Amino acid sequence: MKVGVNIDHIAVLREARKINDPDPLQALGICQRAGADQVTIHLREDRRHIHDDDAAAIIRHSPLPVNLECATASDILDFVVRHRPQRATIVPEKRNEVTTEGGLAVTGDQPILQAAISRLKEAEIEVSLFIDPHPDALLAAKELGADWIEFHTGRYANLWAMLHTNLARTRHRIPELDLPRDELSTMLQEEYARLSELAQNAREAHLRVAAGHGLNYHNVTPIAAIKEIEELNIGQSIIARSVFTGLEPAIREMKALIKRSGF
Ligand code: PXP
Repeated sequence: MKVGVNIDHIAVLREARKINDPDPLQALGICQRAGADQVTIHLREDRRHIHDDDAAAIIRHSPLPVNLECATASDILDFVVRHRPQRATIVPEKRNEVTTEGGLAVTGDQPILQAAISRLKEAEIEVSLFIDPHPDALLAAKELGADWIEFHTGRYANLWAMLHTNLARTRHRIPELDLPRDELSTMLQEEYARLSELAQNAREAHLRVAAGHGLNYHNVTPIAAIKEIEELNIGQSIIARSVFTGLEPAIREMKALIKRSGF
């Protein structure tokens, strides 16, 4: 199982002061030394963390493949096609969200998305679509011609957190998941079963499968045990741990956990 380290969160820290430190570019060599397989960055329309200069330098200097997450705005696509990362993962974006809250709308007529995919593929950039684990979304992603799909594991992670951590008692509780433990437990099992089954379906449809969002040192093992998932993209938990341990041990520890689960 491959691990993509999402290094946006380093730029989040930099932007807290609006200076030039810490520089996400400095993470590249460390990610490689620690055994990461890819670096992932999100060039948001509002440029709230990664800027164009960061993305350009990261793509140019990275010793690892770069997975650039982006929406379909034409200026962003111009940038992606000009700088040619290994892969573009198309994600939905909302101005006021704290993070990417859900998967991309892929069902129905999607002329903008279809045009974006064609443009990226013409530039020989692998295309991944960040989708919710839903059979209709999977079918639509295949029809749209994606090379990869990345399953949004946010619901799995939220259910896990509500069940196994004190999240429900903090200000970040998720009101719609404020349910009795047995209900949460059933919902978590169902979500996990859905991810496993759809990963298998995706492989059968010759799609490559990634997953990510909200994965951490506690909840990653079951997801890493799904053999059809080829890659996990993980940011927040690795960068959070690196504040205490340094980035290299934080990545190594995540890699070791994933390896222990078998794939
Ligand atoms: N994959 C995608 C497509 C994302 O948008 C994000 C969030 O930036 C991640 C993975 C990583 O999520 P997290 O930071 O919660 O690990």
